[in-house]
Amino acid sequence: MDEAEFDRFADEYRSVHAVNIAISGESPDYFAEYKIKDLAIEYFAIRGGNNDAPALLDFGAGIGTSVPFFRKYLPRAQLTCLDVSTKSLEVGQSRFPGEARFVHFDGTRIPFPDASFDIAFAACVFHHIDHDEHVALLKEFRRILVPNGIAFVFEHNPYNPLTVHVVNTCPFDENARLIAAAAMRKCINVAGFSKAQIRYRLFFPRVLRALRPLEKWMTWFPLGAQYYVLALK
Ligand SMILES: C[S@@+](CC[C@H](N)C(=O)[O-])C[C@H]1O[C@@H](n2cnc3c(N)ncnc32)[C@H](O)[C@@H]1O
Repeated sequence: MDEAEFDRFADEYRSVHAVNIAISGESPDYFAEYKIKDLAIEYFAIRGGNNDAPALLDFGAGIGTSVPFFRKYLPRAQLTCLDVSTKSLEVGQSRFPGEARFVHFDGTRIPFPDASFDIAFAACVFHHIDHDEHVALLKEFRRILVPNGIAFVFEHNPYNPLTVHVVNTCPFDENARLIAAAAMRKCINVAGFSKAQIRYRLFFPRVLRALRPLEKWMTWFPLGAQYYVLALK
């Protein structure tokens, strides 16, 4: 994908996204918060009370949609938002000045030293990247993580019909190629991570929100709208 693809959408990203997912009954913030809450729960389950100020890389951060939720759930995290889209980074920087550093990515080498992050997080980014590049990028995740550091990759589930519909009707998903959870886990394992686990998430649209308390018991059920793979360096 060339970086101009998201440069084109940076200004209206929020409104285009909101219209596209209206069928779920929820706003983009609902989905962003859901992910960061999951990340925080997993992070504290693994680390306990140790290090509540992790160095956190938001890979493919776009216009910084997740920043307020990192602040809410991991308030002391040192945030770095990385993206290939300069325009998206500019929008993110102007929305959240001083909350994160916004850094351009050349698409190949994450511009940070080895072992400089505790968490490498990506939300709905890899389906925009050529599948042949995934393992090399995940090796970059591994390189920049500290020993025992956490990779946390959220993706659309290609086996959920509503997700497929939303992706097929989304202007900025024109070139997207969805990734099955097992394929993502395999790439993460090939990149050298250990203990990679899949959890399926986001089962119920707003109209069925009374059922959402069940979602925490359904992470094994491979029809969630999205999933994450969590792994350790
Ligand atoms: C659908 S948006 C998701 C943005 C953000 N993660 C979120 O949850 O709102 C996908 C983002 O991935 C970025 N992206 C695409 N290819 C990339 C690459 N090779 N490396 C890093 N980011 C990339 C795009 O520029 C865009 O900002």
